[in-house]
Amino acid sequence: MADTRPIGVFDSGLGGLTVVKELISALPGEDIVYFGDTDRVPYGTKSNETIKKFAIEDENFLLSKNVKLIVAACGTVSSVAADTAKVLPVPFVEVVSHSCKSAVKVSNNKKIGVIGTSATINSGEHKRQILELCKEAEVFCQSCTLFVPLVESGLVSTDDIIVTETVKKYLTPIKEAEVDTLILGCTHYPLLSDAIRKFMGENVVLINAGVSTAAAVKDILVSGNMLNTKEKGDISCFVSDITPSFSAASSMLLGSPTEEIRVEKVDINSL
Ligand code: DGL
Repeated sequence: MADTRPIGVFDSGLGGLTVVKELISALPGEDIVYFGDTDRVPYGTKSNETIKKFAIEDENFLLSKNVKLIVAACGTVSSVAADTAKVLPVPFVEVVSHSCKSAVKVSNNKKIGVIGTSATINSGEHKRQILELCKEAEVFCQSCTLFVPLVESGLVSTDDIIVTETVKKYLTPIKEAEVDTLILGCTHYPLLSDAIRKFMGENVVLINAGVSTAAAVKDILVSGNMLNTKEKGDISCFVSDITPSFSAASSMLLGSPTEEIRVEKVDINSL
């Protein structure tokens, strides 16, 4: 029997839409409820205590929508607040472990770069997991604090000098380390992948967490007999503030030329 409940996905803002895009491609029949905490973004500069509090509120919002599984489509929550999922009544999927597995698999020289928010990099979670998978790996980590504000402001073009200079500033040490694989440890970063690829060069593999995370979600739904058998799933987006960049990103990543994605505002503090 089909499980018609939606998949719940959340992030601090629009970055998690890069994961939704991969979920739609891997699981086209699933309904998805997305929550972007656009009023409180960024999370990555906040304390672990605050990030955990926000994660619990976001998870509770999705549970109120009767979801069958929750995806923390946020590197920051996945790195410092994954333990908030222990009490959830539904399966939980985070984005760190799957990216680390993919990176170790594709890297030839075992020099792996990781970029993320300050909270993500300070947690050391990627480095710990990569070394657990491959103890001879060398891991080069860099927090890129200005990347999330750039993306949330719609600044992603490779023609924009602010973008190219910011990418250069953060990624120079990673490039000098001669990594052959770079984990985009924040779900906002795939929106900067053109600029990152241009700077790092075509030979460096960029790991987009959405791809392996969507495969992990599919495995759970298949093995738990929880797939939806619909032909085409519905996407509902909720945000704590309706911002022009969220609307633009949702249309760009998820919409079709004829179809606007509907976005609804919710008061996360009143739930
Ligand atoms: N997309 C979030 C992440 O993956 C951005 C965090 C933030 O809001 O700083 O880490």
